[in-house]
Amino acid sequence: MRRTSWLWPVLAPLRFDESGIGPKLMHESFINYRNHRYGVFAVALCLGAVVTSLIDSRREPQNGGTWLGYTLGSIAALLICYLALYGVRRRSFKSPAGSAAGWLSAHVYLGVAVLCIATLHCGFQFGWNVHTSAFVLMLLVSISGCWGVYVYARYPGLMIRQRGNSSRETLLEQLSTLDRRARLLVSALDERLQSYVEEAIRRTHLGGGVWAQLRGRDRSTILIPDALRGPPFARIVSNEGQHVLIQRLAQEHAGAHEASFAAKLQDLLEVASEKAVLVGKLQKDIQLQGLLQFWLYCHLPLCFGLLAALVIHVLAVFLYR
Ligand code: HEM
Repeated sequence: MRRTSWLWPVLAPLRFDESGIGPKLMHESFINYRNHRYGVFAVALCLGAVVTSLIDSRREPQNGGTWLGYTLGSIAALLICYLALYGVRRRSFKSPAGSAAGWLSAHVYLGVAVLCIATLHCGFQFGWNVHTSAFVLMLLVSISGCWGVYVYARYPGLMIRQRGNSSRETLLEQLSTLDRRARLLVSALDERLQSYVEEAIRRTHLGGGVWAQLRGRDRSTILIPDALRGPPFARIVSNEGQHVLIQRLAQEHAGAHEASFAAKLQDLLEVASEKAVLVGKLQKDIQLQGLLQFWLYCHLPLCFGLLAALVIHVLAVFLYR
């Protein structure tokens, strides 16, 4: 992985020692960045807010309109603006404003803390209004952020393990090698089998649209003769896991009389089975990669929604008090 990758600050601490990653980054992630500096700050902030709210609630019931309500609301709004600024920092690789890992660490801890501050700010007074919609959006942004942290912590390792420490490029090269071998083996056999194998290769399907990637299903197909109407009619059926091709080759193998023919079919069967495993691995890899990025497509739009709702909330408070 190149250092400039947008996943670098997150993935670096999670990667195995295979790509020249420095030892310092190997054990310091955004979670334990500088001995949990931002975690400690976030906890202190929340504790301070809870204690002050408890003391103040003896005087008057907590809500957004008290002096403490305004103070906590201002802190929450400033925190949200700071959290949103992370989107800018994330795109400026040479920014002098602190390290990317430090920003992410602060983002994660303060992103959780803002939930506590905003809840105390409104004093648990929720309703069907613009104020609560801002709160709900903040909750959704934070939940999607937590989902992101889980995904970053779990999937990179899973991807490396399930690929067997190879890169996706290597797996794709192996796939074309297997296809070449299959074509070579079948070239010595009859035309019927040749078109079968060729069809299976041509219709092997990897990836696809967003949902196809996220579902991770093998959408390979194959063109087979239509058993009901006979030649030249044919139909396309699913060849998930190279199942139809393998079944067909196994049938031919079972009925083979010549030893050399049977041996060629046996080799073809092995190639088709290897390919089925490889396609499964690639499909899973594409799925995990998709899941690794998908949450961010929820987090960012929700963040924009939150900023808009926050502006409306503040305007509504000051204009219609
Ligand atoms: C009100 C709260 C939050 C706001 C406004 C916010 C906003 C943002 C923004 C604007 C980005 C950059 C997205 C981009 O550039 O594509 C981002 C990324 C991110 N946020 Fe949040 N966020 C919030 C809460 C959280 C929370 C609570 C967590 C986790 C506990 C979190 C985890 C993340 C992560 C992991 C990234 C991506 C890091 C990366 O790939 O560099 N966020 N957030």
